Formats: sequence, C-alpha cells, structure tokens
Amino acid sequence: MKRGIILIFGFTGNLCKRKLIPALYYLFAEKKLQDMFIVGVAHDQATVESIAAGAQDHVEQRDDELWKLFVSRMAYEQVDVQDEEAMARLAQRITDVEHEYTLSGDRLVYLAVPAYLFCLITKRLKNVGICKKMEQKAEWTHCVVYEKPFGHDRASAHEINACLAQCLDESQIYRIDHYLTKELVSNIALTRFTNCVFEPLWCNRYIDQVHIVLNETIGIEGRGAYYDHYGALRDVVQNHVLQLLALVSMESPEKLTGDYIRHERARILEKIYFVAGLLGQYEGYQNEAGVQTGSRTETFAALIVMIQNHRWAGVPFFLRTGKCMPRNEVAIAIKFKQVDCLLLRNCPVPSDWLTITVSPDARFSLQLNMKKPGTADELVQVAMDFCHSCMFTIRPTQAYELIIQEALMGEQTGAVRSDEIEYAWKCIDQIYASGLPLYTYKKGTAGPEQLASFMYKHGIQER
Ligand code: BG6
Repeated sequence: MKRGIILIFGFTGNLCKRKLIPALYYLFAEKKLQDMFIVGVAHDQATVESIAAGAQDHVEQRDDELWKLFVSRMAYEQVDVQDEEAMARLAQRITDVEHEYTLSGDRLVYLAVPAYLFCLITKRLKNVGICKKMEQKAEWTHCVVYEKPFGHDRASAHEINACLAQCLDESQIYRIDHYLTKELVSNIALTRFTNCVFEPLWCNRYIDQVHIVLNETIGIEGRGAYYDHYGALRDVVQNHVLQLLALVSMESPEKLTGDYIRHERARILEKIYFVAGLLGQYEGYQNEAGVQTGSRTETFAALIVMIQNHRWAGVPFFLRTGKCMPRNEVAIAIKFKQVDCLLLRNCPVPSDWLTITVSPDARFSLQLNMKKPGTADELVQVAMDFCHSCMFTIRPTQAYELIIQEALMGEQTGAVRSDEIEYAWKCIDQIYASGLPLYTYKKGTAGPEQLASFMYKHGIQER
C-alpha cells in the first residue's frame, strides 16, 4: 500500500459523519490504511476533534485507543473553494504534511459536495497543483471521487464531464454509486455468469417481467432543501435503480472488472426506453423543512421501461421506489413465463420467481411449484432460500469502505463511466418530459391508490 494523502472536501457534512469517517476508521482498524493521512476540508469553522466527536456514534465496535490513533492522523482545513489563494495555501499545506509524514505524493481526493462545485473544485485542484492530469491509466497517483447525484439532468452532467475531461484522465475519475459496491449487488453478475442454471433462461423467451424495487420506510430525514430540488427519479432512479437494471440485464463482460463491466452496463443504459409511469408524493411532504410550498417533487415513482435489444425485446422492467413505504426493501424480482397448460387440472400454473434481495437481508430466493403432500396433483408454491447473512457471519465490508479501497487500488468497477451517467440521465429526462401525473399517498402505504390500476393496465403482476 502506498503512503498517501486522502483529501476530503465537505468534511463537516452529514455524509462524512455518517458514512465516510466510519468507513475510513474500519479500513484503518483492519490495517488497510495504516500509512495514510487524512486532510478534511470545508467552509465551516470546526476542529478535527469536533468532527470526530460527531462521527464516533456512527462507528460500531469502536476501540477507543485505535480511534484516538486514527483521529491523530487527521487534520482539518477551513477553506473557501472559490478563493484560489486559499486553495494554493491548501496545496502548500498538503506538501508540508507529505514531508512531515514522509508520504509518497499520491493523493486521493473525495468530493462529498454538491455537483455544482465539481467543475470549480476540479479546476482549482489542477491549477494549484494538487492533482495533475495523467497521460495513461496508472495506479491512484492522483484521483478524484465524485459523490452522486452527478448533475441534475443530461445537459448538466455532460457539462461537468467535459470540464473534468480537461483536468483529469477518465482513469482518474470515480463517479460513485454506493449501490455498485454493496455486497449482494456486486454478486449479481458473478452469480448470473457462473451458474449454468440461470444464464440460458435469462432472456425474453423465458422471462415475463422484471421488477426492481427500492422502498424505504424513512422520509426525507431533514434533507428537504436537497430532496425538493431532486426528487425520487434523480435521487435514486437515475443511479441506484438503473444500475441494478444494467447489472441484471447486461451481456457477459470479458471480465467482471473495470471497463469490461462498465462497457456492458453502458450498452444497456443506452438502450433503455421509457414506456409508462406514475409519480406520487406522500401526504405531509410539503410541511417538511426546506420543501417549497406547492412543491410537485415526487417521493414515489412507478415506471415501466424496456430495453431495445434482442435479449430483452418485449420484457417490461417495472421500477418502483418510494419514501415512507410500509417496509424497507431493495430487491430485483424476476418472473418467469408460465409453462404451457399440459396438466389441465392445475392450469394456469403459477410462475416461478427468482428474487434477489439486497436489503434488509441479503438473500436469493427461488419460488417454485411442487406437489402438495398427500394430494395427487395439487400444487403448492415453495421457496428455495439462500440467506447471505445467515451463512456468512463475518462483518460485510460496507459500501463506502469498498469505494475508498477500490479507488486506492485504481479499480473502477464501482465507479460510473461518463457515457453511463449521461445515458442514465437521458432516460430520466425522457421520463420528466412525458409529464407524468403526480398523485398523493398516505405515509406507510404502498403508494398512490392509482398504482393498482396502473399495474393491472400494463400487465404487471404483484409478487
Ligand atoms: C441515497 C439517497 O443515494 O441512497 C437516499 O440519496 C437514500 O435518499 C439512500 O435513502 C439509500 O441508500 P441505502 O444504502 O440506505 O439503501
């Protein structure tokens, strides 16, 4: 492991407190970050101690001595990124830290800031010499991680991409989507392509419809100002949901890493087209802090999209996400076609379903028809269940740990390439342009009451 600097912008923000600092601590505790020094940057007045105190409650199984050691390898700099001189001072400070701790000069920069700052900060990083553009792919000498959402629509994402390309090589750019590094998500492609029982059936000949669900019981959790500007489509569909779709439907890449897999994901995202949908907003949303009165921002979406290629022609992909839902569920459910009606007494025979649940429990479940014991030919549906967390008891590496680890290794599987991100935005732009109706729904229900007739009309079966 090289001895470098991790420079984090947005260090006083929620993401750092809840996810990034805990992830860095776990890596440190597992001796994967021993020789690193962390420099946090933000606009606010703060100290390393106050920031660490805010983060420590989000670290489970914390060892006090180790935590102290970890915090001693962090510094905080109050910097206004608009001010080029302040950025030049930051560059000098980084060089000083590198000398003091005999570091290698390798720098990982993490931008946990809103997308409108991506271009500005990246230009400044280049101008003051914190990052230089590399000519060809190398290890993480200088790389920059960008939080989601990357832009607001295709045009803004394209503009940011063009700006970044002037300052950095694509191999130095990590547009992250934390879903791509979740344990079961990164397992989807591996399971599909290494089990002969799945791949031959993975097409429109045998699959009737695919459901992708990202439902949360939480609301917008004090993030009104952010959320009201984005909404469910931009917050989770453009990224997490469409990436799940790409992983489950892509062709087999030559290898399951880096550009091999990014290329196949991009080929799917390019071919998605929108068929129908409806949007919802939970009752009471407009009273949340930071939300505009009369806001028409959606907190729920049910969408049907299709993929224009030979494998998937005619198969509806039903995407569904909502805040304030009755239960947490992130899952992909594949409904297989019904078998021909040969055994007349049992017709129609229920479809088989394969459900890949990402959370709350990572599990694979295959629902099949079997004979009901004690009957001659009556059917009963049974599930073959594989529960990941029941079988593997080790603490699963959290998504943000993997993001940092992958960036440190120069591995871009969990990072979204410039073309992928623009194709995904194009799909979201298309959905907004279609002027979908927005209905209200009660908190704790499965969405607007119009959902049932929408599903019925489009032949989408409830699981
Ligand atoms: C984030 C969204 O990207 O993903 C949040 O901004 C959402 O609104 C979250 O709650 C869901 O992620 P996870 O890992 O909790 O399923």
